[in-house]
Amino acid sequence: MSALAPHLRLGINVDHVATVRNARGGAHPDPVRAALAAQDAGADGITAHLREDRRHITDVDILRLMAEINIPLNLEMAATDEMLAIALKHKPHAVCLVPEKREERTTEGGLDAAAADNTLKPYVAKLADAGIRVSLFIAADPRQLDAAQRIGAPVIELHTGAYCDALLASDREAELARIQSAAAYALSLGLECHAGHGLSFDTVGPIAAIPAVRELNIGHFLVGEAIFTGFGDAVKRMRAEMDKARTRLAIVRRDT
Ligand code: PXP
Repeated sequence: MSALAPHLRLGINVDHVATVRNARGGAHPDPVRAALAAQDAGADGITAHLREDRRHITDVDILRLMAEINIPLNLEMAATDEMLAIALKHKPHAVCLVPEKREERTTEGGLDAAAADNTLKPYVAKLADAGIRVSLFIAADPRQLDAAQRIGAPVIELHTGAYCDALLASDREAELARIQSAAAYALSLGLECHAGHGLSFDTVGPIAAIPAVRELNIGHFLVGEAIFTGFGDAVKRMRAEMDKARTRLAIVRRDT
């Protein structure tokens, strides 16, 4: 039996290139140019979150990303009629449904899929009918995974924010254990498992080493790192950190 974990895809989130652009209201830096640099550096996909208040990515950015990149676009959006219409118009490869509050600085928690079965279900169905791969951004909580399965989403993305933000090693270990067991549970339910939020060179390894995880979506840290090393180099180093963790995993699994 093969000991190799499946390829781990890297999705690059370009939202915060647009945040910097919008700080001055002009056209620079261009998130589409960043997406093309990420593509050249080996990214497997591009992620962009079109927020209700358009604070970073705009409708024109989505139009241009669809037209200009050659790798799949994962559109993050809230489950609203406005966003559904936009997704059905552009038909990106994937949509990730996320919770959205105007007052939050970033997506602070996962969707409460367990409490919103009936609200989310029609959105998932309409997106899936259009051939779009739908994921739900949720906490590493078995109740949320059960709900994702009931709702009919084929993919879940586990929120890694609490793991990345933990200050104490013991808290980080506990969060990692929750993510590891949620990923294994997702696999047992037949759900494809992704992960993301807050990941950096320091925190990505243990998440990349979880065999059930198939895709990571990473943005803010890389946009910050790009200031020092350039965006392409930051993406390449992230890819290398992921590959290192995945290779170690393959060696450990061959030895056991
Ligand atoms: N995945 C989801 C669903 C997100 O909402 C975000 C943040 O937009 C990310 C991944 C990427 O998080 P970060 O920008 O902190 O790497």
